[in-house]
Amino acid sequence: MSRPVIITGNWKMYKTVEEAALFVKNLAPLITKPTYIAVPFTAIKSAADNAKGTQVVIGAQNMHDASEGAFTGEIAAKMLLDAGARFVILGHSERRRLFNETNALVNKKIKRALSEKIQPLLCIGETLEQREAGKTEEIIRSQLLESLADVQLDQHPEILLAYEPVWAVGTDMAATPEMAQEAHHFCRQCISEKWGEETANKIVIQYGGSVHPDNAQDLLNEPDIDGLLVGGASLTVESFSQIANLGKSP
Ligand code: PGA
Repeated sequence: MSRPVIITGNWKMYKTVEEAALFVKNLAPLITKPTYIAVPFTAIKSAADNAKGTQVVIGAQNMHDASEGAFTGEIAAKMLLDAGARFVILGHSERRRLFNETNALVNKKIKRALSEKIQPLLCIGETLEQREAGKTEEIIRSQLLESLADVQLDQHPEILLAYEPVWAVGTDMAATPEMAQEAHHFCRQCISEKWGEETANKIVIQYGGSVHPDNAQDLLNEPDIDGLLVGGASLTVESFSQIANLGKSP
């Protein structure tokens, strides 16, 4: 079964309204397939306006799990959609580590995203300590199953998954293609056990963590790596367009 290759940029807390608009304008003519970018909340509208009629798909990096309410400083799925976002990153390791997001909270957000029809991109991955303690598979399995508890994944093949080992995020120490493949294969096996092989074969699993133009192709060539989640290297049109145009080597 062939899955589409999906490349996503994650800008984190970088870029103003104007910078985002200019980036999208410059990137759009250079890309050859749908390419996702998760931008700061304030830049969603300008980025999405400039992405209209192009292959750039704009998304957000987080949202609240309630549909609306008295939650000062938070943002709801319908607000993201209204501003032009089409997907949302949930459970990024920086949210888990710095803002105490648990699998249970991420699960509520995933369910909200599905009910409001914004495409979720779920991030999972182990810390260095967990890997060194031989707990990588245990952590992947629990993050995956708990974040997707009560989710009928077979009914939602649009859910994107990103395996991002925490030790590789922003460190310039990417996982080797072999290590990443092993983890991706394990993710697919967990999905298969819970939701069946057909669903497991449909789910796009991106790798993230220190992806750059010089290691992206080797990662993408692994059979279970269907895309990349790119942080630092998504901040310039030059490096991101190189990665965005990659597919599997024939
Ligand atoms: P990085 O970030 O590419 O800068 O390591 C990846 C991410 O946080 O999604």
